[in-house]
Amino acid sequence: MNKLTIRDVHVTGKRVLLRVDFNVPINETTGQITDDGRIRAALPTLQYLIEHDARVVVATHLGRPKGKADDRLRLTGVGERLSRILGKPVTVAADCVGPEVEKAVAVLTGGDVLLLENLRFHTDEELNTPGFAQSLAGLADVFVNDAFGTSHRAHASIVGVTEYLPAVAGFLLEKELTNLGGILENPAHPFAALLGGAKVSDKIGMLCNIMGKVDHLLIGGGMAASFLKAGGSEVGKSFIETNRLETAGQLMALAERKDVDLVLPVDVVVVTEIEPEAATRTVAVTDIDANLRIVDIGPETVASFASRIGNCRTVFWNGPMGIYELPRFAPGTRAMAEALAESRAATILGGGSTAEVVEHFGLADRMTFVSTGGGASLDFLGGETLPGVEALLDR
Ligand code: 3PG
Repeated sequence: MNKLTIRDVHVTGKRVLLRVDFNVPINETTGQITDDGRIRAALPTLQYLIEHDARVVVATHLGRPKGKADDRLRLTGVGERLSRILGKPVTVAADCVGPEVEKAVAVLTGGDVLLLENLRFHTDEELNTPGFAQSLAGLADVFVNDAFGTSHRAHASIVGVTEYLPAVAGFLLEKELTNLGGILENPAHPFAALLGGAKVSDKIGMLCNIMGKVDHLLIGGGMAASFLKAGGSEVGKSFIETNRLETAGQLMALAERKDVDLVLPVDVVVVTEIEPEAATRTVAVTDIDANLRIVDIGPETVASFASRIGNCRTVFWNGPMGIYELPRFAPGTRAMAEALAESRAATILGGGSTAEVVEHFGLADRMTFVSTGGGASLDFLGGETLPGVEALLDR
């Protein structure tokens, strides 16, 4: 990586503004964090700073409160979880800027951790207003970006603060760039990309960029319906992006020109209505009635995808194969998670809810690397420069 990291700066006794992405999923009814993977992923950086007696000021956003304080998006629960994971007290500040916060920072001693309140309670965060960035920067001597998942946003706490503080990468950011960058730069072949999730539109940039690098492109999930339709199949009532059918057709033509083995489902699981107890049927993709919806890939497709994965040395996975949250529609996604877990390939996962998918099946630990980034990983794999990375000091 051509950026300075936390190892390159002196942090002992310093006030360090650590931007993390603790935008964790929260159960709307109970208010409980349902997956704390993003908090755990930032631990190496936090522990390093604590061990080096830095005075740590942690900043994150949570949700999209659109510039207004929202009690449901306060960081109290995140602070409690962080404190439990770190095994030490974490104070949550009443805000992220202002005199009270400055006082809270002033009393920190080496190894203390203060969590600022949700950055997005201020419109200035997303607008990247210089005054706001300067107030945040005023809380610290050094800035560490460990928020890979937000590094595609040119916000005050990601880009703005780097105007005022020496800015370096944390360990998670470094690991993300190394692992995701590795599949773009020098993947071991054969290399397969297994793609799913609802929409083609979110993934066009990534699809175009990886097309020249992969040997197999395995397409399942909701987005397969758009490819099947573009290829002339009927997909019943399945969701398709009508304005992306042409793009799907172009991507298939591109795959052919580049000699990429693009594989679509040959059979699918269908229902008449998406309900937890819906009666499911497996049909060939040439046999989807007008009243049916695709909810999963079928067993023949699973076998065809799994056999290719079994021969690969690198596999990138983005997006579920169906509506895996409902147990009846989960077998295809589960089978793919298991195929990756069992494969000897380097398995790199990222984008959208892919991290949640493998957590759901208890297989996250069996993957080589699970990115914490949603949109950020897709942008990065699409070949875009991430503003939050760009803004850090060059090596
Ligand atoms: C994410 O969850 O992808 C990041 O935290 C960024 O969130 P955002 O899409 O609301 O900017």
